[in-house]
Amino acid sequence: MNQDQLKRQAAEKVVEFLPSGGVLGVGTGSTVNHFIDVLADVKGRFDGAVSSSEASTERLKAIGMQVLDLNSVGELEVYVDGADESNHQLELIKGGGGALTREKIIAAASKQFVCIADASKLVSCLGEFPLPVEVIPMARSYVARELVKLGGNPVLREDFITDNGNVILDVHGLEIMEPIKMETEINNIVGVVTVGLFASRGADVLILGDEAGARVITP
Ligand code: A5P
Repeated sequence: MNQDQLKRQAAEKVVEFLPSGGVLGVGTGSTVNHFIDVLADVKGRFDGAVSSSEASTERLKAIGMQVLDLNSVGELEVYVDGADESNHQLELIKGGGGALTREKIIAAASKQFVCIADASKLVSCLGEFPLPVEVIPMARSYVARELVKLGGNPVLREDFITDNGNVILDVHGLEIMEPIKMETEINNIVGVVTVGLFASRGADVLILGDEAGARVITP
């Protein structure tokens, strides 16, 4: 199976984890795109979805799913999203698609975060995937210098503006031994909007598309 088929496998398995109704949280990325396709068959039972990006919003609307403002719904039962890396504690790196801020907000507002990914995303130590950090444009150089002090090598994502009008620094060369500590440190740099480390609120369940079938992992 290729990587795309493994993503599809995880996206199909997640149906077993969906509530019987209510509003769903929906993330962003190629794995989530498969999930949205799968959702087309069961969408009738949901009141709608809260979306983490303009891209997912368009896809949700295309399958006929109502997209709701997070402010108009209460706590969400389940949030489904992908990841760029996960460790065995289900602490994640996210933001490869640049939607990390809205993703983090929806994850925080959801009772359960179900992460879907192909098996290559499971790692023993986070950091091989460059860590995305969303930054207010005027703070870009200052934040980059602070990230260097933390041992990283920040690179501005070229020709990319987030849905919130900000820039992304992708931080290379980090070996993230203490994800919660690093998440806090980077969050505390003035000018940082969001760091793509999802450690203090990681996933509750990880569904991995694998050659042997979909694997369900809990911390
Ligand atoms: C989007 O900003 C990201 O957090 C995605 O969840 C992550 O990049 C996973 O993307 P894929 O499903 O395309 O691998």
